[in-house]
Amino acid sequence: MAAVAAGVVVVSARDAEGFRGLTASSFTSASLEPPLVLVCLDRLSRTREAIAASGAFNVSVLERRQEFVAERFAGRAPLVDPAWRAVPHELGANGLPLVAGCVAWFECRLQVLHPAGDHDVAIGEVTDAGRRDGDPLVLWDRAFWGVA
Ligand SMILES: Cc1cc2nc3c(=O)[nH]c(=O)nc-3n(C[C@H](O)[C@H](O)[C@H](O)COP(=O)(O)O)c2cc1C
Repeated sequence: MAAVAAGVVVVSARDAEGFRGLTASSFTSASLEPPLVLVCLDRLSRTREAIAASGAFNVSVLERRQEFVAERFAGRAPLVDPAWRAVPHELGANGLPLVAGCVAWFECRLQVLHPAGDHDVAIGEVTDAGRRDGDPLVLWDRAFWGVA
């Protein structure tokens, strides 16, 4: 899989403690009509738990310079506050956070969580989406890259 270039996103959701966020490279489209997207979530992920309970999630497609956001929501920056509080963000129409300055975003209603080994495939119906100019962050060969 290290040979497969993939965009890097942050998946957000909410639980009783507040907003959750998870860095993912397994995001892709699933259907055009209706518009469905999918992301594979670790069964142990707190964000997966929040999505399963609330039925909603957002996806922010990161920009090249947002590598630090990817590290933060991958739990790789243990000395910094993991909360959304420290990450510039805005709230979507569904009240869930979107990373400020991301190159594209999707607001989703959970359609199904399909078990797949140690992950669940979350399929969401897109209720709103948009994009901005920018160089997307790409994961390839276990490192982050830009496209431009
Ligand atoms: C580049 C990158 C891509 C990742 N892709 C995924 C993914 O597609 N699915 C997943 O469940 N975790 C993925 N992870 C790991 C999660 O980001 C990490 O386990 C996170 O800490 C889970 O947070 P949570 O338990 O608060 O939800 C990825 C991590 C990195 C750095």
